[in-house]
Amino acid sequence: MEKASLVVLISGSGSNLLAIIDAIKNNQLNAEIKAVISNRATASGLEHASRENISTHVVDHKQYPSRELFDQAMMQIIEPIKPELVVLAGFMRILSKDFIAKYQHRLINIHPSLLPKYKGLNTHQLAIDNKDKIHGASVHYVNFELDSGPVVIQAEIPVLTTDTAETLAARVLQQEHKIYPMAIQLHISGRVRYDNEQLKFDNRPLTKPLLWKNNKLIT
Ligand code: GRF
Repeated sequence: MEKASLVVLISGSGSNLLAIIDAIKNNQLNAEIKAVISNRATASGLEHASRENISTHVVDHKQYPSRELFDQAMMQIIEPIKPELVVLAGFMRILSKDFIAKYQHRLINIHPSLLPKYKGLNTHQLAIDNKDKIHGASVHYVNFELDSGPVVIQAEIPVLTTDTAETLAARVLQQEHKIYPMAIQLHISGRVRYDNEQLKFDNRPLTKPLLWKNNKLIT
């Protein structure tokens, strides 16, 4: 089967990007990353891509007078590739309506909380402050509202009484590295579909997200 083409957007360390690269190498993901775009020239994730000879691009948001023009500059790189999926992997910019409309249904994000809980930033600290027993990460399609698109898969982990935001973030990140390649493969294999504002898994409506827990996928 032909490999699906991906474009990955990053802002920072790119550990999720690395997990996707590794999953491709291990044949868990039938895809090819055609380009990595970072809005920060110093994002260390760019090195993961260069090492694999993936084409890298820096589009510095500070060089553009508006969000729309910044997004257009990214679209000029993405459009010729015609990717099957645009993957946000720690990309820390809010996207414009035009960008989201262009890639709707093939734009996916990972967020470090059990959505709809804790949209936005500081999710790990919020989980601790609220004395949550369970925390985790969600992979979701992107729609027009921040961190609100339909969730494909979530990973759950227990919050320990000794956890700080940092220790919790590190354990959540390990789970992110498992579920992001999984969710991407579910999309490109067609097992998960997002059309007509509805998510389907194996042709049936997905009424609640798939759950990754104790190293097992619960469907
Ligand atoms: C991850 O926790 C992701 O959920 C969030 O930003 C972090 C990115 O990490 N959106 P990395 O750049 O993939 O290492």
